[in-house]
Amino acid sequence: MALICVAADKGSPGVTTTALCLGAAWPRAAVVAELDPAGGDLLYRTVGEDGGPLDPELGLLSLVAAARHRIPPGEVLAHCHRLHGGLPVLAGIQAPSQANALAGSWPRLGELLAQVPGTDVLADCGRLDAGAYDTTMGVLPHAAVLLLVARVEVDQVAHLRDRIAELARGDRPVPPIAVVLIAEDRQQQRNAAAEVTRLLRGWDLPAAVVGVLPVDPLAAAYLSGRLRGNAAGSALDRAAVGLADRIVDGFLLRPQATERPPRRAAVMTG
Ligand SMILES: Nc1ncnc2c1ncn2[C@@H]1O[C@H](COP(=O)(O)OP(=O)(O)O)[C@@H](O)[C@H]1O
Ligand SMILES: [Mg+2]
Repeated sequence: MALICVAADKGSPGVTTTALCLGAAWPRAAVVAELDPAGGDLLYRTVGEDGGPLDPELGLLSLVAAARHRIPPGEVLAHCHRLHGGLPVLAGIQAPSQANALAGSWPRLGELLAQVPGTDVLADCGRLDAGAYDTTMGVLPHAAVLLLVARVEVDQVAHLRDRIAELARGDRPVPPIAVVLIAEDRQQQRNAAAEVTRLLRGWDLPAAVVGVLPVDPLAAAYLSGRLRGNAAGSALDRAAVGLADRIVDGFLLRPQATERPPRRAAVMTG
């Protein structure tokens, strides 16, 4: 169905965590794909459905090798793992040096990931820094939306502004851009969306805030595999459920009740 790219301008605001919590909360069938050219986290940090380690032979590299020949988009799923808790993931490269093996494949990858039958793909694209121009930027034209993740901090919002302005005036096609903020306390969560939306409008930038996720260190540690446990029902998970619905409503087709998966996937690391 649709490809949803999740990225940040700079730093490490929580792109991977946001992609995983959205994947678990997504109202339609979804896969989280690690496209970060700097290397993924899932292979090292998470466990498979049987509680054992993920098979390192399966993932982005095996998909790209297969896609050198014509493959139907449904074959993407054959390169995915199912994490403990049920979330399907496409594990990324393990080190930046492996990104060479993906050179020239990014546009084809975007095309494939945007057409997986019955399944949306949430792609963790890491940082859109200079290195992204030959890598994940090739995927972007195929996305239904680009979610830019930022913490509510002056420097991150300033970088966000510069990145959106650069994307908007660049010569490459980019999808609609939506901002996901990660905010500290309740008051910051309440004010952040309105404040940053006002700033983006003032700067005349083609992007809006689609939602705010709370800082929730315990749930984030469960999602990353640093602690063993289940993030389902946490403040982060509850906010992700609302955010996922808003993204689907705002940027993809309204899901039909029958399209919902029979049970919600969770990311459980224990
Ligand atoms: N919503 C959140 N609440 C609390 N901690 C978070 C949240 N999102 C991410 N983190 C933490 O921030 C650090 C970076 O997160 P990660 O998702 O790996 O960022 P990125 O992919 O942008 O590098 C990790 O320690 C992670 O647990
Ligand atoms: Mg990451």
